[in-house]
Amino acid sequence: MMDVKKLLVLPGDGIGPEVMREVAHIVGWLRHHRGLNLEISEDLVGGASLAAHGVPIREEVIEKAKAADAVLFGSVGDPAWAHVDFDKRPEVAILKLRQELELFANLRPAKVFDALAEASTLKPEVVRGLDIMIVRETVGGIYFGEPRGIETLPDGSKRGVNTEVYTTSEIERVARVAFDMARARDNRVCSVEKCNVMESGLLWKQVVTELHAREYSDVQLSHMLADNCAMQLVRNPKQFDVIVTGNLFGDLLSDLASMLTGSLGMLPSATLGAVREDGGRHALYEPIHGSAPDIAGQGIANPLAQILSFAMLLRYSFDREEDAALIEQAVSNVLASGLRTADIMSDGMARVSTEMMGQSVLREMGKLAL
Ligand code: IPM
Ligand code: MG
Repeated sequence: MMDVKKLLVLPGDGIGPEVMREVAHIVGWLRHHRGLNLEISEDLVGGASLAAHGVPIREEVIEKAKAADAVLFGSVGDPAWAHVDFDKRPEVAILKLRQELELFANLRPAKVFDALAEASTLKPEVVRGLDIMIVRETVGGIYFGEPRGIETLPDGSKRGVNTEVYTTSEIERVARVAFDMARARDNRVCSVEKCNVMESGLLWKQVVTELHAREYSDVQLSHMLADNCAMQLVRNPKQFDVIVTGNLFGDLLSDLASMLTGSLGMLPSATLGAVREDGGRHALYEPIHGSAPDIAGQGIANPLAQILSFAMLLRYSFDREEDAALIEQAVSNVLASGLRTADIMSDGMARVSTEMMGQSVLREMGKLAL
């Protein structure tokens, strides 16, 4: 029997709660059949928290997240709150969690399930077998750099300011995650910045190069400008293994990469903090897709990214590789059997609801575990 682990579940807004419901069934199954021992608590974030408490995330929820062994996050964002002050918008919930828990390394895999090679907007031969990992820095760069704000100029016009900042240690710690990750994969890292225009990018490149020479010379390292990387990801995505980049470029490139896999609805992510002395680390798992308010409440959202995020959680935070692999295999089999939610639907496949997709994964897990 495993030690009891503390899991904090934050479904959030839009489709968050409905895709999270499908994960809850999987958790129940793992508890019953595989001895998964969890103490789960659930709370509100984003627009849901604004509605109930007037803030996108409460201090006590941040404290709970700090005390948890892992956080499973849904998605935040709700047009109903478009009018609130900038520092109160629903998205502040995820940004605050990343910052307060110092979750600096966001792992965003883009993996094409064989059955979905046809669902990509790119030619199947370009994406079949694709398996890349984007390591995105998430507590620095232009998202948090100072100065920032909107100021009024003497002539009454305005000036909006954000600042891209990276320090040596911020670059090193995320690059280390990328190099370690590469060693367990195809051993290649591509570091992405705009050193031709930005000093912060020049420093990024220098620090990654020096760290590589010092500690990771066994890993193959290349460098690429961010705009070229966007182009290369569409031209020939299989040239990449691990990509490491800053916050803003990582945000853009990971959305781009996700579409190679057929749908944003397929991709999980993990955001990790530093390993502590006791061996643990703060970690948050979330799908890459947003709250998708346009389809919320209709029972048609794809729950697979949320389910696969939970599989990542089991692997990285709870050391339950077998359960993670079981979930991933079940997802793969369900897709191979032709079931599709609306976002990945194609000719000749069977369209199913959120709930049907979740139930099918569960049924497949049962079969595989026999
Ligand atoms: C993401 C999202 C967030 C980000 C938003 C919701 C703040 O787009 O996780 O990629 O920009 O980081
Ligand atoms: Mg994004």
